[in-house]
This record gives sequence, structure tokens and C-alpha cells, in this order.
Amino acid sequence: MGSSPSFPVVSLPRDRIVVVTGGNTGIGYETAKHIAMMGATVIIACRSEQRATDAIRRMNEEYQDDRTKGKLEEGHINEDKLPVEFMKLDLASLKSTMDFIEAFKSSGRKLQVLLCNAGLAVVPRGHTEDGYETHFQVNYLGHFLIVAHLLPIMKTSGEDCRIVFTSSLAHKGARFDLEKAQAKNPSDYGRMLYYSNSKMYQIQHMFCLSRRLRGSDVTVTSMHPGTVSTEITRNYSDLKCFSCLVSCLDSMKVLRTPYQGAVTLVDLAVNPKNKGVKDVYFVDCKSASIARLSRNEQYQEDLWNYSVECLKQYLPPDITASLDVPQDGYQ
Ligand SMILES: NC(=O)c1ccc[n+]([C@@H]2O[C@H](COP(=O)([O-])OP(=O)(O)OC[C@H]3O[C@@H](n4cnc5c(N)ncnc54)[C@H](OP(=O)(O)O)[C@@H]3O)[C@@H](O)[C@H]2O)c1
Repeated sequence: MGSSPSFPVVSLPRDRIVVVTGGNTGIGYETAKHIAMMGATVIIACRSEQRATDAIRRMNEEYQDDRTKGKLEEGHINEDKLPVEFMKLDLASLKSTMDFIEAFKSSGRKLQVLLCNAGLAVVPRGHTEDGYETHFQVNYLGHFLIVAHLLPIMKTSGEDCRIVFTSSLAHKGARFDLEKAQAKNPSDYGRMLYYSNSKMYQIQHMFCLSRRLRGSDVTVTSMHPGTVSTEITRNYSDLKCFSCLVSCLDSMKVLRTPYQGAVTLVDLAVNPKNKGVKDVYFVDCKSASIARLSRNEQYQEDLWNYSVECLKQYLPPDITASLDVPQDGYQ
């Protein structure tokens, strides 16, 4: 029933700047490649320059192969090189995240699309150099810092600017308890639970941002890519049950390819029909239901305040002020 979800191939101007965190592999890789093929300038923000350089080379090889074989469609560029660039970003370090932000700001570029996609899943209990639980910082807090600093640029980057969070269906297994957010007590920790929590925080972040962006040209959405065969499994290869499950799903051909996993993210980034769409969680390019917990506005704002407190050293007054809810309040 129905056809597979897909995105339209639309011609994008070279001065439309798209940042994809974690664009060197998996869902981010496919997303970056397909958006660059439509002509926008894509920056993959990755922690390993070598892996990013290899990825850009591979994207170009695949693109040239398509070009030679006449597989390009109307809307694709027909050039010798894809407009993809690398910028260094390690979300597990707030210092590295700030270096990325400062480098982007000093480039003087505008920013129309920010795809917060990088992430890890179901890792053993650990803390970053900043002292935060790993899923919390890499999947959520690091992206919070990027959004906070780059929003002023996005707000002045013309119409139809978009932020998309690659969340997960796993958010439905989340619990909300900020006192335990950093898993200080090992007995609080569950690998799946803390992944789920980080994915719910992204959805809560979406709602908080939308309240603050009312009336602006910046919209925020979130999505689940499906269950996708990517390198994400390296994070839990030590867990026999997960590895068995993944092999089973693989042999049953239930897992999506990275390209299939990227379809909804690309659609949210480029489809003209998604202009102005906000506060929606998408699956297969369609709006989908989210866990009721994610909708709790008090929890959303508690998370927001907690995050601002975590990042206070990195949020100067002008940035904090720009993140206030507009004076006329919200409902
Ligand atoms: N695969 C699925 O079934 C699935 C389902 C639901 C949601 N998702 C979400 O989809 C997103 C992409 O995952 P994927 O499946 O494409 O996984 P993946 O193949 O493992 O790709 C993850 C990307 O995130 C990057 N990353 C990890 N830690 C980072 C850090 N500290 N700083 C900067 N970048 C970092 C990785 O960089 P390196 O290559 O350097 O490690 C890689 O580029 C994640 O947010 C994940 O939660 C995936």
C-alpha cells in the first residue's frame, strides 16, 4: 500500500548554506550528498577531518558515476565537483563546539538550513570532558549550543530558514527527571533509556525554540529516520542482544539503507511544501504522533532552563537575550 516516501529534486541556489552535523557517514552522509546535488553549499560538521575528507571524495565519486551514467534528474547540478565542505566539530567537547561556532561566525556566511543529525546511541555510561552524560551532550546539549549561537545568523538569512533535529522513535521510551540527567549514580543508568531521553530532549527543544521563533522566518521540525543500517551499531556492538536483533532485522531485509533513512531529513530540508512547517515530528515524510511526555510544556521549559544553566559559561548576555520568549508570551 502506498509508495515509498521520497523527496523532490529541487534546484537550490549555491548561496543557500546547509550545515549537516555528522555528515560523514550514515543518514548524514546521504543527506549531505543529495542536498549538494541540488546545488546548495553543504557543510558537513564532523569530528574527524580524515573521515570527512574520505566522505567528500566518495560523494563526488558517486555523483560523477551518476553523471556519467545519465542518472541525474532535472534540479541536479551538472558540475565537476559537489559543493560540499568540511568543518571540524566534536559535540563531546563544548570547547570544540564553540570553536566550530566561532569559525562559522567568522566566515561571515548566512545560514538557511541547520540539520542537527550527529549522534550516538546506547553507549555505556560515560561523561564528556565537560562532565555531562555522553548521550545528553553529543545528541542534545552540543546542538543546543550551536542553535543558540547560530540563530541570530539564521534570523537574518532571508526567508524560509529551517532547523531539523534527527530524533528517534526511541523518544517514546524516555523518562523525564533532570535530577538524574547526568547519571551521577551508576544505578540510574540504562543505555537505551539515556539514548531515549536524549531523543526526547531534541523534540522538547523543538517546541521551546518554536515558541521563541514565533514571527520569524526560522522554523523547527524533528524526525525519525526509521531503523537504518548505519555505523550506529558500532556503539553497541558489545551488547549481544542488540547485535542479534540487528542481524535478524538485516537478514529479514527490514533495515533501511542510509539513503532510505535520509529521505525524510532531505524532504524537511528542501521540499518547498515544508516551508513554514514547524513543531512537527515526521516519519516517512508525514507528521507522526509523539509521546505525551514530550508535549508537556512545563517539562520543556524546565529542560530549557536547565540547559541554559549548563551552558551559562558559553552563552553571553546578547545570546541569552535573543533566546527569550517574545514579550507577548505564549500559550
Ligand atoms: N540508524 C538508525 O536506525 C537510527 C534510528 C533513529 C534515529 N537515528 C539517529 O540518526 C542520527 C544519525 O545516525 P546514523 O544512524 O546515521 O549513525 P552513524 O552512521 O553512526 O552516524 C552518526 C554520525 O554522528 C557523528 N558523531 C558521533 N559522535 C559525534 C561527536 N562527538 N561529534 C560530532 N559528530 C559525532 C558520527 O561521526 P563519526 O563518523 O566521526 O563517528 C557520524 O557522522 C543519529 O542522531 C541517530 O540517533 C538513527
